Amino acid sequence: SDVLLLNGPNLGILGRRQPEIYGTDTLADIERAVGEEVAARGWNVVAVQHDCEGALVRTVQEHYDTVGAIVNPGALMIAGWSLRDALANYPRPWMEVHLSNVWARESFRHDSVLAPLASGVIVGLGPLGYRLAARALVATVG
Ligand code: DQA
Repeated sequence: SDVLLLNGPNLGILGRRQPEIYGTDTLADIERAVGEEVAARGWNVVAVQHDCEGALVRTVQEHYDTVGAIVNPGALMIAGWSLRDALANYPRPWMEVHLSNVWARESFRHDSVLAPLASGVIVGLGPLGYRLAARALVATVG
């Protein structure tokens, strides 16, 4: 079985993106960490990152058969309506993750159009948030 790990715009440059906010781990580090967390359950990670919303929508559509998903939508949290529609049709539990504590930042980051559809939301814990989201899927997915 596969878990979808989906990262949105500007997350492919993690490690050299505002490290004071997002830390120094790369996306490859995060993808490896999620793989470690789900390995015990015998799951594989399908890790995908796109900067374009349409490519993310297509990725979700093509992975409706995964057992669960972890999604960091980046700034698409603010107005990613087509990504939201794609996730509304996702039949399995999925977790929204934000590295930074979005409520401690600019007010335009204080609401996510995706979050009402998520099984859970983790913010502000850096890369650990992805591990915890993976553990949540392991613990809750039947
Ligand atoms: C982010 C928070 C978003 O507001 C921002 O646009 C990002 C990263 C995070 O992981 O903290 O791109 O999703």
